[in-house]
This record gives sequence, C-alpha cells and structure tokens, in this order.
Amino acid sequence: MPTRRDFMKVAAETAVGTSICAILAEDVFAMAVQHAFEADSSKASTHAAFGLDGLHGEAAKKKMFFGSATSEDRIISDIPYRTALVKECGIIVPEYEMKWDIMRPSATTYNFADADFMINFARQNGLAVRGHTLCWHRALPSWFASTVNSRNAAQFLTEHIATVCGRYKGRIHSWDVVNEAIEPTDRQTNGLRNSPWFQLLGESYIETAFRAAHQADPAAILVYNEYGVEFDDTIRTDAIVNLLRRLKARNVPLHALGVQGHIRAADKAKFAANMQRFRTFLREVATLGLSIIITELDCDDTGLASSITTRDEGVGGMYGDYCSVVMNEPAVIGIITWGLTDKYTALNSTNPRSDRLPQRPLPLDANMVRKNAWYALEYWFKNTMQRPRQTITSVAEERVAPIQRLRCIPNTQQSECEIQFTLERSEDVLLRLVDVRGQDVQILAQARFEAGEHRFMLNYAAFPIGTYLCILQSPSFLVSEKILLQK
Ligand code: XIL
Repeated sequence: MPTRRDFMKVAAETAVGTSICAILAEDVFAMAVQHAFEADSSKASTHAAFGLDGLHGEAAKKKMFFGSATSEDRIISDIPYRTALVKECGIIVPEYEMKWDIMRPSATTYNFADADFMINFARQNGLAVRGHTLCWHRALPSWFASTVNSRNAAQFLTEHIATVCGRYKGRIHSWDVVNEAIEPTDRQTNGLRNSPWFQLLGESYIETAFRAAHQADPAAILVYNEYGVEFDDTIRTDAIVNLLRRLKARNVPLHALGVQGHIRAADKAKFAANMQRFRTFLREVATLGLSIIITELDCDDTGLASSITTRDEGVGGMYGDYCSVVMNEPAVIGIITWGLTDKYTALNSTNPRSDRLPQRPLPLDANMVRKNAWYALEYWFKNTMQRPRQTITSVAEERVAPIQRLRCIPNTQQSECEIQFTLERSEDVLLRLVDVRGQDVQILAQARFEAGEHRFMLNYAAFPIGTYLCILQSPSFLVSEKILLQK
C-alpha cells in the first residue's frame, strides 16, 4: 500500500501547474472544473457544481429518473463518453450484455463477464441499472432452435431467469421481463406475436417469466416492454392493455409497462394526430395500477433534409412533442434514451439515411455537446409535476459514489488539509488539486492503491487562499470535493 511518503514523492515530482498525465489526455474534466466555479458555488452537491448533475439531476428533483442504454466497449474505450454518461444519467441499461445471445454461449453455460462489468461500473459510479431482457423473440443464441423444444422450453426459461435474476438480485432497478410479445399482424390468439416462446409454450410463457423473475429478485420492478404504441390505430394498444389486464387479473407480479419510444421526426404530424389516443392508452395502463417507463427513446431523422440545424430542430421538436404527452402522465416515472450520443446510435445500421449522413437521434451529438433534444428533455423535467416517490432514491442520494468516498478536512491553524478516501478494491488512482480556473495546482498522487482507507496530509501554506477542488479518479470513477483553503 502506498505510504504518505509515496504520496509526497509523487507530489514533489509533479510540479505545480504540470500538464495532466496521459490517462487524462482526452479528459474533459478540466473544462468541467472551469464551469463548476462559474456555476452557483453555494450548491451543496459537488456533482452539481461541476455540471455533473445533468438530465438525471433535473429528473430527480421531480422524483423521476433519466438514463440511457450503453455498452461495455464504449464505457471502456471512450473517456469523454463515459464522463457524459455518468454526468447525465442516474440509471443505465446494457444495450447487449444481458441478452440471451451474449449471456448464453451454450445451452448449459452462462457468460456473466459482460453483464458483471456493467453492474460493477454502475455501482462504482452511483448509477442504477435496468436489466434488458429476460425473454424476447430476438437475440436468441444459435443453439436455441435446435435445443429448445416444447418439452423443455419452460425449464429453459425459468432456469435462465432464476440464474440471471438471482445473480444480480438487489442490483437491478427494473427488469424488462418480457419484450415485444404483441404483434397483431401475426394473427395469433390475443394479438400475441408468433415468437419462438409463443410457439413452444403458448401465452403461458409470459406469466412463467414474470413469476420466475419475482421469485429470484422480489425487489426489482418487473416490466412488460413494448414498442409501436404512439402511432397506433388501437389494435396494438388494445392487445397490450388486454394482455396487461389478464396478467393483473391473475395476480402476476407485473409492476410497469415499458414504452420503448422509438419515434421518427418526419412523423410529427402523424404523432400530433394520434396524441390523444396515445394519452388515453397511457391512462388506461395507469388505471391498471401500473407505472410506465419510457425505456428506449430515440428519434430517427430519416426523411428530414440533410442540414444539421433542420435535423436537430426536427428531432428536438419531436422530443418536445413526445414529452408533452408522457411527462404530463403521473404514471410515467422515468425516461431512458436508447443511447446518449449520436456517436453510438444503433439507427445508423438499422435505419440508415438515404444521404448516408450519420443520424442525429439522441440528446448529445457525437462530441458530447447538448442538442435541442437534450434541452427539450431538460425543459420537461423542469416543468413536469413531482412524482409521489422516487424509485431510485438511494442511488440518487449517493451520486457521489459511496465506494470511493472522498473527504477533505482543512485545518486552518496548520495550513494543512487532511484528505481521506476509501477504495473498495485495488485501483490505479489519480488524486489532484485544481484551482478555480481548472488548472492543476498539484498532482497529489498517481499510483496503484490497495482496497481500504487512505489518508493524506496536504500542506497548503504556499498556496493562495481560496476555493479548490480535490479530484479523485481512476479509469472507472471520478469523485470530487470542493475545499476552501484559508489561513
Ligand atoms: C437493438 C440494438 O440497439 C441493436 O444494436 C441490435 O442490433 C438489435 O437490438 N428493441 C429492443 C432493443 O428492445 O433491445 C433493441 O436493441 C432495439 C429494439
């Protein structure tokens, strides 16, 4: 374990004003620091002062939540993206890592590595996690069709759910238990989709899945997740409401409807024409005693002209229209976007534009800059009514990641400040002090630290008095604490 002397050695070797070390080369926090001190310095939360209270910060004031889908490779490889993710979101959802084709390399084995990464990353950064998805007709592994039959299907389904939900018990805010089970054009009973699960087990697979999930993780919010409800002529939405009603009547543990929210800016007029029906649908769901989560919001910009301004205004306008419906329904408790930045939208492969330009469907552009869509969400979180109960309160309250808790205790008499932090596991850590202009004043430590509590004395006799920020970060987290150094 590095000692105080190690700290001092590193500190001495890295002179005041040093340019930031390699792992910070692409780091955007220096900029954040600058903004931090221009912002209201009386704010209690350092995250807020740093502009780290993004959309989730606004949502949480209304006891709602905001988050986005993400994936392991992006989190690992892209520091500005990771920074934006932690800043904007209170909850994340793995876009791939919990789907069957990733989790089930074979009929008898599980791959937990990718999902574990997501859960650990979330935990270290004070984020909640949605689980997606336990039962879907897509993303089934290649062995599925030849191995699963009507005799063993129920066993496969319950075992999978018991194993996966059991492993992450207590760590998942909400599970998309069954995804996209309705497709009236398939012409099956009750408008159900003619999915492999339906073919093997009939409608009962839905109930089986929910009961297994509840048994394995009784605290998780269990969600039925569906798309295509915004522009509907009521055939889909009636089938969905009827399914939810049947499940509730049978006391199936079902707590919320997930409305995916894949919308298209060019459908603005169509959306407006159908707004009232969409609203009615949401209210019908609410009267069943269910909450509603917008689970996969993004806005396809195909059909809009190439100009970035046109597209950002069109997409932003559509986010606004969408929010004007969903944010006015008290049953809607949170919004998740399907990706946070245009850089990683799945729409470029699933719905490419005819001019081949990359799509701009999400709140941040490819450089993590906020766009009209971001401001539309912010406006609606600011202007929506307070929900009765925050479903991720404990996480929201621990936005300053509890695991790496950082404390700075100045002693004005001695011109010393005691800096304490606790690591849950061994980490490569950078501890630095920056001034109000965002300049590094001192690199206090840059080393691998063991799990446990660490203490360090900073003598600031030679520093000008004033406000500083102490930042503790590793490749997987960032926490900070504002300090007023006085003599
Ligand atoms: C999508 C991913 O975003 C794509 O990259 C992948 O190729 C297919 O799956 N509804 C869902 C999501 O519930 O899981 C889907 O995600 C998008 C539609």
